Amino acid sequence: MIEVPCTLKTDHFRDTIWRRRPLHIGSLETQQILRSLRNLDLHSIVSKLAALAPAQVSRVDKLVFAQRACMADATLRQLAVDFGSQLVPTIRNVWIDLVNDCPEKSGLGNHFDTSDNFTIQIRGTKRWQLQGPTEEGIALARKHLALRLPATPILQTESEVFEFVVHEGEMLYIPLFWMHDGVATSDSQSASFVLNAESWIDAVYFLCWHIADLENWSYPLPRVPRGESTNISSCAAPEIIGDLVSALRSTSFCPDRMMSEWYKSRSDRMIGEPK
Ligand SMILES: [Fe+2]
Repeated sequence: MIEVPCTLKTDHFRDTIWRRRPLHIGSLETQQILRSLRNLDLHSIVSKLAALAPAQVSRVDKLVFAQRACMADATLRQLAVDFGSQLVPTIRNVWIDLVNDCPEKSGLGNHFDTSDNFTIQIRGTKRWQLQGPTEEGIALARKHLALRLPATPILQTESEVFEFVVHEGEMLYIPLFWMHDGVATSDSQSASFVLNAESWIDAVYFLCWHIADLENWSYPLPRVPRGESTNISSCAAPEIIGDLVSALRSTSFCPDRMMSEWYKSRSDRMIGEPK
């Protein structure tokens, strides 16, 4: 079982840093994690992942970015679960991304994620620039999280820029919704422990348990010709959507049932299991 850095297990981290600001963690606290990662053949894991799930591996020149690399290796996945469960005991969705063969002056570009990232330098050095989101940016990011849209570089802000130089063995905590841009200052290899955010929007999906009792949810959808404006009032959509909304307002709608199904879906899922 790997030990997360002691700093991350303190009340100070939970109360003042978690999801509020970044944190640079020294290599003395990450020695065990670094050793565990180096004991694995991360290049062959990425090759296995590319065969198993090609969409998870992207290449920009020499740089290889492998998302959810632990899908291809049980030991790597256990490292992710060990790490995540020590920070958030009830966490269900945690994984490891790898950035292999990142040449000097390269990186993944400026972006934000809808997850908390703990990136560790396995080899080489990276210079990171981070910016916290504005209120407007957070509202936009929340929509991305709720609708499960991919995160995009849309949170350019005027806020303070935090800069960190992360050397071999050091770790950087990047809170969700923070813009971040890491550029290698030497040939680099890094891994990120990714704790995916969960939200109450998951509970909302269980409204479907009630709507599913109705017949008209399964009616054929109107055909919308590509590139043509369509008068929505001429089709059955307003009536059907109105019926579905009315059903949610009716006295037969039982929030308790929805919540019990939602709760069951959480307790049934294994820790670390991908969604
Ligand atoms: Fe990222």
